[in-house]
Amino acid sequence: MAAAIGAGLATQEPIGNMVVDVGGGTAETAVISLGGLVTSRAIRCGGFDMDAAIQQYVRHEYDVAIGERTAEELKLAIGSALPFSDEMKAEVRGREVTTGMPKTVVLSPDEVRYALRDQVELIVNTVVDCLGDAPPDLAQDIIYEGIHLVGGGAMLRGLANRLADETDVPVHLVSMPLECVVQGAGMCLDSFDRHRHLFAAAES
Ligand SMILES: Nc1ncnc2c1ncn2[C@@H]1O[C@H](COP(=O)(O)OP(=O)(O)OP(=O)(O)O)[C@@H](O)[C@H]1O
Ligand SMILES: [Mg+2]
Repeated sequence: MAAAIGAGLATQEPIGNMVVDVGGGTAETAVISLGGLVTSRAIRCGGFDMDAAIQQYVRHEYDVAIGERTAEELKLAIGSALPFSDEMKAEVRGREVTTGMPKTVVLSPDEVRYALRDQVELIVNTVVDCLGDAPPDLAQDIIYEGIHLVGGGAMLRGLANRLADETDVPVHLVSMPLECVVQGAGMCLDSFDRHRHLFAAAES
């Protein structure tokens, strides 16, 4: 809900809004209307799992262990959910598992995309399922208005287009994906009376 408010969606209106938040450890998605969640899904899969998948791939294919930070850097540099223009290879430094010696590996964007395929597919399927659960009228609104994508993991190259391809719905990456949820939470507090019902569960 905070993500949707932060994205500036008309959450209080009798129309369907859909938001997808891909974070570090989770991916969450919800259809929102009249100030409440209509359908939602959450999975324990996000950017950290993508980093782990890259580490696993490099270890398996090249017998080289790389750190989490190196894997994340590689993801930011050439990671993607779809082929993109100007694809360039990237070098990573790690340690050869069998000899313990330092080793540099050159990876292509295609390989990193392959390494990330399971995580990307999980996220895409979660969004497809959540959209599929939405009542037809609200789904119609979403088809027209699009899905709003927030969170750091949402910035994975090509993720928005991949989601759009597989849902047949336009997908908009918000202008500040990392700050959107925090901004939305702040806006809830600023207009507490209007959003009071969102806090009811925490009070009990
Ligand atoms: N340009 C980018 N491309 C791909 N991933 C990115 C990019 N920028 C940041 N990330 C990833 O975003 C993730 C962090 O996102 P975010 O800050 O939204 O998570 P969080 O809110 O802390 O986690 P959660 O919502 O799971 O509790 C990290 O895994 C980071 O690697
Ligand atoms: Mg988050």
